[in-house]
Amino acid sequence: MQILVTGGLGYIGSHTTVELLQKGFDVVIVDDLSNSKLNVFDKVKEITGKKPYLEIIDLKDKIKVEKLFRDFNFDGIIHFAAHKSVNESVNFPEKYFKNNIGALENLLENIDEEMYFIFSSSCTVYGQADRMPITETFPIKKSESPYGETKQICEGILKNFCEANPLFNNITLRYFNPIGAHKSGMIGELPLGKPENLVPFLTQTAIGKREQLVVFGDDYNTSDGTCVRDYIHIEDLAGVHVSCLEYLIQKKNKANYEFYNVGTGKGLSVLELINLFEKVNNVKINYRIGERRKGDVVIAFADVSKILKNVGWECKFSVEDALKSSWIWEKNLKNE
Ligand code: UD1
Repeated sequence: MQILVTGGLGYIGSHTTVELLQKGFDVVIVDDLSNSKLNVFDKVKEITGKKPYLEIIDLKDKIKVEKLFRDFNFDGIIHFAAHKSVNESVNFPEKYFKNNIGALENLLENIDEEMYFIFSSSCTVYGQADRMPITETFPIKKSESPYGETKQICEGILKNFCEANPLFNNITLRYFNPIGAHKSGMIGELPLGKPENLVPFLTQTAIGKREQLVVFGDDYNTSDGTCVRDYIHIEDLAGVHVSCLEYLIQKKNKANYEFYNVGTGKGLSVLELINLFEKVNNVKINYRIGERRKGDVVIAFADVSKILKNVGWECKFSVEDALKSSWIWEKNLKNE
């Protein structure tokens, strides 16, 4: 089966492509290199021994997207391609609306028959949930950022598209916090410039690229005062896409629009994560407590029983595994 992976050279996209190739799928990667590097393609080929196709296309380009659909005959699409910086989206909202929504619309305009589609969403759609763990029945709250709003809008577009097109089968995955790197040590997260997310900042501090990690606030109403998140290993996250694709192909879905939380089900505070990183990797992190970051939710961790019950998917890796792999990846990056 031929699967289009948009954003296939990115962090989640590259790991998912590896998993798909190893499961025997034929993969066409589309990427515009806006937040990825071309050498990831070589790494993916080296890890798998397989040769996916690669098309360097900006999905906002309608003409090129039409040609893509004429050149290939996709059975499924996993749509990752999107801008993802919360901060940047606040300063350049138009960039986010045009790209994240425009890309999805251009893809959908070319789909008129049976298609398996997996959409990359985020737990950010829940905002600060009233209680934990977060189940899929929780309300979608007003978004804190244009980035979050694009995810909410895309979810809505897909829901409507499914209602109008019974042969279109979609699964929307609401990721919690992906961390870690591939076991080969060859692919991982590649933040361009100063990282916004915790783990890349932490590994860059550990290796000496950054002087000090700032913990954004320790006066929250949590066990140690720092924010709590659900950190999921990137290899688990890659695996869930393949499991969901197989679930759709085997026609196990009850509706043609389904959506799931993807996390571990366990919450970890920022300080707990730092301590765990130090312990499993035997390194010291230079950190200090700083101001709260605007827009941070206090606690977010998933109830993952729906995806286990319906799709039969659950995590295989621990946070310890993820933190070890992040450190190996950072050390490998230093040697590049
Ligand atoms: C962030 C986005 C979320 C998005 C996700 C994509 C915000 C508010 N949320 O999630 O919408 O889907 O990235 O990857 O930006 N932290 C520090 N110091 C740092 C960096 C982070 O203390 O230098 C803390 C944060 O306050 C947070 C935790 O670490 O409590 C995780 O932060 P991060 O990795 O940025 O992820 P989220 O904020 O959960």
